[in-house]
Amino acid sequence: MQIRPLINNDIESISLLHKRVFDSSYFSIHFNISRLNKYFESLLSANKYCYVAVEDKKILGYVIGGYQTQKAVDNFMKSNIWYIFSCMLINPKFILSAIVKIFSRIFAKKQQSKAKLRLFLIGVDQNANRKGIGGILLNKFEDELLDNDIHTYGLYVRFNNSHAMKFYEKKGFQQEFVRNDLICYIKSI
Ligand SMILES: CC(C)(COP(=O)(O)OP(=O)(O)OC[C@H]1O[C@@H](n2cnc3c(N)ncnc32)[C@H](O)[C@@H]1OP(=O)(O)O)[C@@H](O)C(=O)NCCC(=O)NCCS
Repeated sequence: MQIRPLINNDIESISLLHKRVFDSSYFSIHFNISRLNKYFESLLSANKYCYVAVEDKKILGYVIGGYQTQKAVDNFMKSNIWYIFSCMLINPKFILSAIVKIFSRIFAKKQQSKAKLRLFLIGVDQNANRKGIGGILLNKFEDELLDNDIHTYGLYVRFNNSHAMKFYEKKGFQQEFVRNDLICYIKSI
């Protein structure tokens, strides 16, 4: 198993893997592959800490993080606004959650995580789960942060994603606060 930086040439494989790894409750799963490629291009161009786990030339897992994860998503959304609307019309369950997010951004007192750097996505091929690959990706991510003198990072996970919560808690994350359907976790390394 090799862990190496995620490069532009990996993006198509990551898009295909992303669609297999995450379930249909994740909005980005509904993007077509070419739009998902653009989504990952935006994330990759703005975020420094992105790695893949490779075995026999096959990408089995990925982790994406950095200081600009939300900015990269916002930029992608702005540049693809009509496509996003069309996806919502085809999958109307996302319209309500978008409205809730907009209202809570405007009206709710926004809790800020103490961590400035965010792990945005981690995913491992379902056929390779529980073999330690997620843990190896996380170790690489943390080693690179430490090399850059970064000692705290955070992430958001949905509270119905019990597998990921178990994974993060096993890896030493602490719950910081809850916002809408998300739990904010933080870890000191
Ligand atoms: C979360 C995820 C990345 C974990 O990857 P993984 O390679 O399976 O994890 P590891 O094998 O390193 O697991 C380490 C520990 O985490 C916990 N864990 C991982 N997956 C778990 C699951 N499905 N149920 C319960 N505990 C789990 C276990 O304690 C495990 O140790 P153990 O197998 O010795 O008991 C993977 O399940 C995944 O891709 N999930 C879908 C995408 C996702 O939800 N990502 C997180 C939100 S961004």
